[in-house]
Amino acid sequence: MQYAHITGWGMAVPESVLTNDDLSKMVETNDAWIRERTGIRERRIARENEFSSTLAVDASLKALEVANLNPNDIDLIICSTSTPEYIFPATACLIQDQLGATRAGAFDLSAACTGFIYALNMAAQAIRSGSIKSALVIGTETLSRFVNWKDRSTCILFGDGAGAFVLQASDNPGGVLSAVMHSDGSGGDLLSLQGGGSRYPATEETVHDGKHFIRMNGHEVFRFATRVMAHATHEVLETADLLLEDIRWIIPHQANIRIIEAAARKLKLPMERFVINLERYGNTSTASIPIAMVEAVEKGQLKPGDKIVMVGFGAGLTWGALAAEWTGPLPPSRKVYPRQYQAAARLRSIWLRIVRFVEGIFWGRYE
Ligand code: UT7
Repeated sequence: MQYAHITGWGMAVPESVLTNDDLSKMVETNDAWIRERTGIRERRIARENEFSSTLAVDASLKALEVANLNPNDIDLIICSTSTPEYIFPATACLIQDQLGATRAGAFDLSAACTGFIYALNMAAQAIRSGSIKSALVIGTETLSRFVNWKDRSTCILFGDGAGAFVLQASDNPGGVLSAVMHSDGSGGDLLSLQGGGSRYPATEETVHDGKHFIRMNGHEVFRFATRVMAHATHEVLETADLLLEDIRWIIPHQANIRIIEAAARKLKLPMERFVINLERYGNTSTASIPIAMVEAVEKGQLKPGDKIVMVGFGAGLTWGALAAEWTGPLPPSRKVYPRQYQAAARLRSIWLRIVRFVEGIFWGRYE
């Protein structure tokens, strides 16, 4: 039997910080309201030359270094995102090309803020089945590109960032233990971005109607979130045959401190058992759980052998939880060069385009 261990982790956030005070100059709001109602103090905003793929590549390189792997050791890349760079090609393929992950299959997964849990579970299942040995799982968002900066009920919440995990097969028990995934499409209208898809392709009218912005019914999403967080946590513990007492850390989706407090009350756990960093990054959707985890590891909060639960909810509606035993870094077995691979990947990408162009001249015409 193969187990799927988390052996690498990395995060990347844009340098540019947008504080609550900055926001109060843009819309009618203030620092006190935002902190009291959400717990958020500031968020990161991507610069013009930063995209979902570039943040993901930064996070992935760090994760590969920790896992002691080169990009071409990776069998599968799953990129969870609600802010892909294009409808297609998949952002995962842009990441594959930028990293030089020459052997990897790559696809995007769309399950909003729950996406990282879905993606980790999918990758772990592929490893457990024996079909792959390693996977790069990424949560990346540039939500600032889709926020209506005139809508104070949403623009205060979201931020940009990426987190990446490497999963590797091992005979040793541990790693991803179990997961639960849920959805309820009847609540799809509660949190949506409708413009640019096949129902509302971009037209003057869709732009005029603001269909290319995030729309949310905050109250209903709040009610839904407080209902499902504790339930999904209990459920995943049951499937993993664990008790709440066995769990060292809960890593919740970082949307609103009041949602996490409500989950803590329902679970009868002190807030100290939750990893929380939303005050500095806001809600980075699918990237929020891996970013919180990476920071916890870097602070020394997570120790090898610790059992953890990641739990999230989001648009769709989707929700889910994943239980894991933290493996920690494997001892380095060889020298790896992920960054050099990335530099070579640029040349490789240009070379492949030239080859394709030349092939097109000689063999591209169908008579
Ligand atoms: O990843 C999932 C993503 N979404 C979520 O997790 C969102 C879940 N929902 C929430 O986090 C909360 O519902 C919000 C933070 C969005 C809103 O907080 P709330 O406590 O539910 O506020 P509210 O909508 O009930 O608004 C209370 C008041 C209203 O004024 P009136 O009608 O009482 O006069 C709002 O107009 O606060 C007003 N308000 C604001 N005031 C200052 C709404 N937004 C703001 C603002 N600054 N940014």
